[in-house]
Amino acid sequence: MAEDGYDLWLRYPAAEPAAAEVIAAHARELVADDASPTLAAARAELTRALTSFTGKPPAVVGSPTQSGALILGTARSPLIAGLELPLGRAGEEGYLIRSASVDGRAVTVIAANSDRGVLYGTFHYLRLLQTRQPLDGLDIASQPRTRIRVLDHWDNLDRHVERGYAGESIWDWHKLPGWLEPRYTDYARACASVGINGSVLTNVNANATSLTPAYLEKAAALAGVFRPYGVRVYLTARFSAPIELGGLKTADPLDPAVRAWWKAKIDEIYRYIPDFGGLLVKANSEGQPGPQDYHRTHADGANMLAEPLAAHGGIVMWRAFVYSSDNTEDRAKQAYSEFVPLDGKFADNVLVQVKNGPIDFQPREPFSPLFGAMPKTPLMMEFQLTKEYLGFATHLVYLGTLFEEALAADTMVAGKGSTVARVVDGELHGYKLTGMAGVANIGTDRNWSGSDFNQANWYAFGRLAWDPFAGARGIAEEWVRMTFSDDASVVKPIVDMMMGSREAAVDYMTPLGLAHLMGTGHHYGPAPWVSDLKRPEWNPTYYHRAAADGIGFERGPHGTGAVLQYSAPVAARYGSVKTTPENLLLWFHHLPWDYRMKSGDTLWNELVRHYDHGVAVVSQMRSTWAALQGRVDAGRFEQVSAFLAIQEQEAQWWRDACVAYFQSLSKRPLPAGAAAPAHPLEYYQALKFPYAPGQAR
Ligand code: GCU
Repeated sequence: MAEDGYDLWLRYPAAEPAAAEVIAAHARELVADDASPTLAAARAELTRALTSFTGKPPAVVGSPTQSGALILGTARSPLIAGLELPLGRAGEEGYLIRSASVDGRAVTVIAANSDRGVLYGTFHYLRLLQTRQPLDGLDIASQPRTRIRVLDHWDNLDRHVERGYAGESIWDWHKLPGWLEPRYTDYARACASVGINGSVLTNVNANATSLTPAYLEKAAALAGVFRPYGVRVYLTARFSAPIELGGLKTADPLDPAVRAWWKAKIDEIYRYIPDFGGLLVKANSEGQPGPQDYHRTHADGANMLAEPLAAHGGIVMWRAFVYSSDNTEDRAKQAYSEFVPLDGKFADNVLVQVKNGPIDFQPREPFSPLFGAMPKTPLMMEFQLTKEYLGFATHLVYLGTLFEEALAADTMVAGKGSTVARVVDGELHGYKLTGMAGVANIGTDRNWSGSDFNQANWYAFGRLAWDPFAGARGIAEEWVRMTFSDDASVVKPIVDMMMGSREAAVDYMTPLGLAHLMGTGHHYGPAPWVSDLKRPEWNPTYYHRAAADGIGFERGPHGTGAVLQYSAPVAARYGSVKTTPENLLLWFHHLPWDYRMKSGDTLWNELVRHYDHGVAVVSQMRSTWAALQGRVDAGRFEQVSAFLAIQEQEAQWWRDACVAYFQSLSKRPLPAGAAAPAHPLEYYQALKFPYAPGQAR
């Protein structure tokens, strides 16, 4: 059957007879009440999946009448209470999945302390079924390691998605609240299936209109759909809303009238959405208003909102993505310079949201030096799932490995092993509030994410927010088995391809620690030559600093000193050319074209080789996929094939344009075996893409 990707990883295809029998034998009966909308959702999901797997709905009973019952619920259910399970291991949101026995009958129990835990446990159990895991002798306990696991939608009220490559915003604001698209429910199901418990509906470049009563009513309608799935609604706050909506003269966070306005507004939001999650704020960054407009600090701004939110159990997520037009400091240093002095000054219900790297979601960056440097302020991770700098919708780039690399990075702030994951999960500094945000890659495209493989990034984000120590490979494997096929000879090549895909993109776009070479504004394709934009740090030349003498940004102690923002051992490692990992070399150092790399070859030759290697890997990916024809449904097979062809072409374009440009500066011949770019440099420089998608409006 042709598939269009709408069902994501929740496809539940009919199982082959032997597997169907095993599944049926473990779910002959379902003991599951529907006392709450969340429990009803869990039961409905199980019923839907089991029916689809086995061809027959399970019997719903009050207590097991035979072996092979599936029991779900909380300790409120006497049957579960009677089993005396160690529910402490499930925590507030987690669950236990156990093989047990009731009156001598073999049963499987999905138990939790909350209804949401039951729902999460249900999805875990379904994952076991989907990936054909053994169903006997189960003793699973799982609980999330972060509390706030949110998707950030950069969606505007006119449905344009900033950096969106999957159609329009799925929020049809105009028809809300009257029309609730079924897609909203499927969105919430998908989020819950990977443990995502929040959705920031609106763009960080915020529009105050989203806080007006008409729009709060619309947001409340979405909250109503999401609620059974444990997904809370959050909104972005435009800092100047008191002026724009309230008619005040100022938005100064210490002004009593401004504070009163926000308090009233927040109280009003909770009248519409009693379980509203809180506000996400981008302030004093890229032209957004903020507290610094009034000579106040980020903490003053965040705390003003935090106080009235705290009264309702809400939080503030205050973004650390800041750099300012009148600051000549290395852009990579600015967030640290602004935020570290504020450590300990934020209210308890504020999280500072930090992008994984110091600049901006590049194919590769070192970890942000803020991680580990703010022990008294909960820092939440911000990843970007929409691939603004990684080939948009058409490039197959699995981000699980990027996320894993960022989380495994060692800050060394409290000795070896002080990983970013341990900062983010709160353990290292004892944060009470913890979280992870993923900038969503979701839109109205039938397959949600603009490509089938982009769905894996949504999936991987959720799984890693739940457990930042989970491995990217295991997650990819799960996803492939649920999304494409459970056949090992299909799974292995696809997973291998995914695992190498991000490094390939790094190679054909920005190898050896280069960054931000993308086209102006839209970020589509290569433009390393651009040097005429108003702000220095908008220009690719600012980042690569290539010239006759060499290439790279010197951030060592004798350069901008950015390395000194890291703990001493990390600063020493990145500060010295010899110990800087080669995959970050040009991020931290400016080096001559003839610098000798570990391979013994010159930097120039290695640079070209990396570009070539990136293209070669994509060609390899194409053949891998081509060999799967007939093993994957035709609809998705065709689109992935077409996208891989686009990716190969664009990888070649990236390689040729960058090699042509850098060669114009290095004045070195290409290494042996490397082909000359297909066109002269001027050809690439003349390409224009005024309608490339996703641009900021
Ligand atoms: C990037 C992106 C912008 C976005 C910004 C942010 O710079 O290009 O569109 O607004 O990040 O994270 O705030």
